[in-house]
Amino acid sequence: MKRVLSGIQPSGKLTLGNYIGALKNFVTLQHDHVCNFMVVDLHAITVPQNPADLREQSESVAALFVAAGIDPAKANVYMQSHVRQHAQLGWMLTTLTSMGELERMTQFKDKSAGKESVGAGLFVYPALMAADILIYNADLVPVGEDQKQHLELTRDLAGRFNSRYGEYFKMPEPYIPKVGARIMSLDDASKKMSKSNPNPGSMIALLDTPDEIRKKISRATTDSGREVRFDPANKPEVSNLITIYSQCSGLSVAEVEARYEGQMYGPFKKDLAEVVVSELEPLQQRYRDIRQSGEIRSILRQGAEKASEMAEKTLTDVQQLMGFLPY
Ligand code: AMP
Ligand code: TRP
Repeated sequence: MKRVLSGIQPSGKLTLGNYIGALKNFVTLQHDHVCNFMVVDLHAITVPQNPADLREQSESVAALFVAAGIDPAKANVYMQSHVRQHAQLGWMLTTLTSMGELERMTQFKDKSAGKESVGAGLFVYPALMAADILIYNADLVPVGEDQKQHLELTRDLAGRFNSRYGEYFKMPEPYIPKVGARIMSLDDASKKMSKSNPNPGSMIALLDTPDEIRKKISRATTDSGREVRFDPANKPEVSNLITIYSQCSGLSVAEVEARYEGQMYGPFKKDLAEVVVSELEPLQQRYRDIRQSGEIRSILRQGAEKASEMAEKTLTDVQQLMGFLPY
């Protein structure tokens, strides 16, 4: 069975973008792959985090993984920091990474733009992400479009390690959805929907109430036209809403277009809100049950134990190949 690895940062409220671009695919892949899904807290601290918020968000994101349909009996769900080998391999891979490669990363450019002081962790972040993936020799990495460049760097680092120290790492492939790999902001379709956007109206959080969802969708920006037509170049806002509709209803983009042919944006948006509400309501109910039961801590512990076994084996091999004196 092929190995799958992915992670989501506990740095804010998970959005519909995280769900459509990543989480939904985690759920699909768990049935016929060996899966590891992490809450990447070590990545979250590359920007300042309030400790109490980080703790709460970490548990909340882990519970959302399970509420979205990840079955802990099928996939390991755990905290990145609980598998200490990630940070160790991360350091080793940092030494194989050039400054130039890191300077080219668009996520780094975006997150550091205009800042007076930029943490070194934010800069070396992609080497830690490469370690997350390579420590399990993962074949597939389900992510949204924005992570493609990090995946390319991971492949370069794997190749560099192999040519310097001997063939060891497999080349991981990104697994990016054809529709929904980049859900855009509701208020500005030139930006991706992001949990770190300070405007709550720009995104739908997975835990938003039905009324909040209805309000946000009714206020979402559209164009001055009338056609519910998928045309990302000329109608980016409406196309984004059609993508969300398609992903939450199971209808294809063409089916959504056909359903609203000749109709105005009002009825389309009204239905879209109901489609999103009915996709998220069962998830929210499961989320509340899981948080109340307190079971998430033991799920995380078991996930980390299993993942650590795989990770320790890789780390020992890598230390040996790189010439570290055995313990
Ligand atoms: P992050 O919130 O940066 O930790 O992202 C976690 C995962 O969700 C990554 O695989 C991202 O590519 C994906 N993701 C985040 N925002 C979006 C979005 N707006 N559309 C699609 N995928 C997204
Ligand atoms: N960098 C990813 C993001 O911002 C999160 C992440 C960390 C990740 N490690 C990973 C994703 C390993 C996939 C695989 O979304």
